[in-house]
Amino acid sequence: MKLLHLDSSILGDNSASRAVSAAIVSALTAADPAIEVTHRDLAADALPHLTLDVLGNPDGTPELAEFLAADVIVIGAGMYNFTIPSQLKAWIDRVLVAGKTFRYTAEGPQGLAGEKKVFIALARGGYYGEGQPAAAIEHAESYLRAVLGFVGIANPTFVLAEGIAIDADTRAKAIAGAIEEAGALTVAA
Ligand SMILES: Cc1cc2nc3c(=O)[nH]c(=O)nc-3n(C[C@H](O)[C@H](O)[C@H](O)COP(=O)(O)O)c2cc1C
Repeated sequence: MKLLHLDSSILGDNSASRAVSAAIVSALTAADPAIEVTHRDLAADALPHLTLDVLGNPDGTPELAEFLAADVIVIGAGMYNFTIPSQLKAWIDRVLVAGKTFRYTAEGPQGLAGEKKVFIALARGGYYGEGQPAAAIEHAESYLRAVLGFVGIANPTFVLAEGIAIDADTRAKAIAGAIEEAGALTVAA
């Protein structure tokens, strides 16, 4: 089984999403040590913005092949300016490829990404859950759900660390809670 682990936080060792995505990968590999892990650090090794050349030659970059080959994908992302880091968006721009991961049909778009399990460690400075005043400006979780659904990946598992920017205690509790939740995950989750 192949696991693709993506991190996109710019905050290095202070990143909440990196701590949680690492905990998810640890839990999954502890349950199945035969899992082959590829880690791609989209902040340390940033992809350029999409260009016409890349769009016209999607097989010329490794991101699409890595995505298609993965059985399990673990994504670490922080909410930056109400959405995902642009580093992660640059990766998405390389894997949403017509004819490869989706296609348009007379009945509407069809996802082609096949059976993959996706886990997302998402850290947010504030609170954006249902009923929160800021719920309407949440464009990280909602965007990732839309993108994954578009390529045919239903039911991604989100592990949230929220309230990271409130104060040190709230941050520590949110990260600890998310890491605990991550520890119980299995590929079947
Ligand atoms: C550039 C930047 C933009 C941010 N924008 C938001 C935001 O729009 N809403 C929010 O709730 N928190 C925001 N935050 C706080 C982050 O969501 C929070 O620090 C989170 O832990 C980031 O994930 P990371 O620690 O893995 O990088 C922002 C942080 C940074 C560094």
